[in-house]
Amino acid sequence: MGMRILFIGDIFGRPGRAIVKERLPGVVNDHSVDLVIANGENAAAGFGITPSLTEELFDLGIDVLTSGNHIWDKREIIEYFHAADGNPHSPARRLLRPANYPPGMPGWGMYQGKKKDVPYAVVNLQGRVFMASNDDPFRIADQLLKDIKAKVVVVDMHAEATSEKISMGWYLDGRVTAMVGTHTHVPTADERVLPGGTAYITDVGMTGPYESVIGVRKELILDRFLTNMPSRFEPASGDVRLCAIVVDCDETTGRAREIKRVMISL
Ligand SMILES: [Fe+2]
Ligand SMILES: [Fe+2]
Repeated sequence: MGMRILFIGDIFGRPGRAIVKERLPGVVNDHSVDLVIANGENAAAGFGITPSLTEELFDLGIDVLTSGNHIWDKREIIEYFHAADGNPHSPARRLLRPANYPPGMPGWGMYQGKKKDVPYAVVNLQGRVFMASNDDPFRIADQLLKDIKAKVVVVDMHAEATSEKISMGWYLDGRVTAMVGTHTHVPTADERVLPGGTAYITDVGMTGPYESVIGVRKELILDRFLTNMPSRFEPASGDVRLCAIVVDCDETTGRAREIKRVMISL
């Protein structure tokens, strides 16, 4: 027995959505995946996610979507969150925004569900180093974990600084099944199971076009660095890859047994 969890890194624009559509069934099959989680904060041409894209991604076989600093880029997501009130498993309820945003914001930072009869929880947090000054993600994690009954718990720590993500990994070690980092769009090679049984990686990486600067057309970003002039960011399209990790855990204890990195091209 056991439970196998696939976590897909930031899905960026149409190329990211296309590779998920094309390759997700094969990945799920090859790795005997039970539960699929993905970060969708860049699904809409790099900036945020719309209600219809949320549901499109769920239709491809994703169970829960996390997000991050781009969650408010498409304003219609606010109304979508409001409309989800009262149904704990609606698509809008399964799209998370970081839990440590100021109190009273639309949306939810934690989802609790069941897959193949195994209760699980997903928590979304955002870092504070080189990012907006939100509430303390460490204390918010403590508060949320107190209320979670499920043994299988996956945390997406959406953060810029490697040190902040590594710290959160140690802080949650033995309390969650997996703590994965997102946001930088650059995969790291430090995946491991920490001594307490928490699978950890600093960044899962981007699912989108790698012939780019973190998803955006490289000429535009280069021009920004060379001139300091504002420019419009457009999504790139070349060298599309899907970056993810697969965690194998004991569903009765929630302890991770293995974490593996996945990077595949379209
Ligand atoms: Fe992102
Ligand atoms: Fe981000």
